[in-house]
Amino acid sequence: MPTTHAQDRAVLSDHGLEIDASTPETWTALAADVLRGLTAEGEKHLPPKWFYDAHGSQLFDEICELPEYYLTRAEEALLRSHGAELAAAFPAQELVELGSGSSTKTPLLLEPLLATGHLQRYVPVDVSPSALAHAEHHLGQRYPDLDIERRILDFTTQLSHLGHRRGGGRLIAVLGSTIGNLEPVEVQAFLEAVRAQLGPRDAVLLGVDLVKDVATLEAAYNDSAGVTAEFNRNVLRVINRELDADFDAEAFDHESRWNARYERIETRLRANGPQRVRIKSLSLDLTFTAGETIFTEISRKFRRETVAELYAGAGFSLDAWIAGDSNEYALALARPS
Ligand code: SAH
Ligand code: AVI
Repeated sequence: MPTTHAQDRAVLSDHGLEIDASTPETWTALAADVLRGLTAEGEKHLPPKWFYDAHGSQLFDEICELPEYYLTRAEEALLRSHGAELAAAFPAQELVELGSGSSTKTPLLLEPLLATGHLQRYVPVDVSPSALAHAEHHLGQRYPDLDIERRILDFTTQLSHLGHRRGGGRLIAVLGSTIGNLEPVEVQAFLEAVRAQLGPRDAVLLGVDLVKDVATLEAAYNDSAGVTAEFNRNVLRVINRELDADFDAEAFDHESRWNARYERIETRLRANGPQRVRIKSLSLDLTFTAGETIFTEISRKFRRETVAELYAGAGFSLDAWIAGDSNEYALALARPS
């Protein structure tokens, strides 16, 4: 369906949306996460989904272009070489992409699916309205006959709002190793919720980053241009703007380290001196000692066995494991078992 100028304007005006906490529910969720995480008994912590306001989504897109951040290029290469095989294995009528961001890689999946003649509908799902607006705009121009229906929702809590599948095959894709940002217990609940949105003949596709040497992994999260550090600090800027707080973001250093036991990169913000912070909307005064941390993100790295187990635990069986020769990244297709 060709977009009109009015639709274009509506889409583009969304780029001006500062905050993804644009609804009262989202604002309340942010306030609750900040209150819980920053008054925690042990280490202070914040969920990674709050990185992604318009600026954070843009910083993430810049991360994808960094020489150290191999994940995006590795996934693109696999989609390029095996996209047709995936589309043949599952010629979906509807592609739902969770955590789609700006959908930059999605054409590598859309094109082979369109070539099967079955694909009619693409549903990008994200918490970032600005990223979704950008995606809808560029994909709408590129694929005028494709029905694109974006959904702003939190895939960890609101998947039941996705809407009914409309006959034909539904493929739910989660690319970019986004499931790596979820704790194991959250992944389990998430995959079960995904399963509930699929019929017995549908399928799910996960893009997962694999365990590899520590130097490569740590370099990917400590880029020399400092973009990942800015992305990490962005959560403080989101809190300042949305909850009327006065974090000095520059007073926190970025830290990303490999945890061998849990096979994950752990990302923190570390106070580089003592800090006092006021969060006015929560009537909350916080103190940070020099060196105190806020745990902001985990990026789990996977093995084939782990992914097969995760799938099995949620009622799926692994159907195809595509890791290429380099074995640094994998696409894992599964069907309800
Ligand atoms: N899939 C894209 C983007 C990955 S970045 C890629 O592979 O490059 C992760 C994306 O997930 C971001 O766009 C972020 O806004 C979104 N996201 C993170 N947590 C989310 C949640 N709980 N619900 C919905 N979207 C979420
Ligand atoms: C979206 N997600 C999988 C990214 C990752 O690799 O964990 C987010 C990111 N954080 C720092 N750099 C990129």
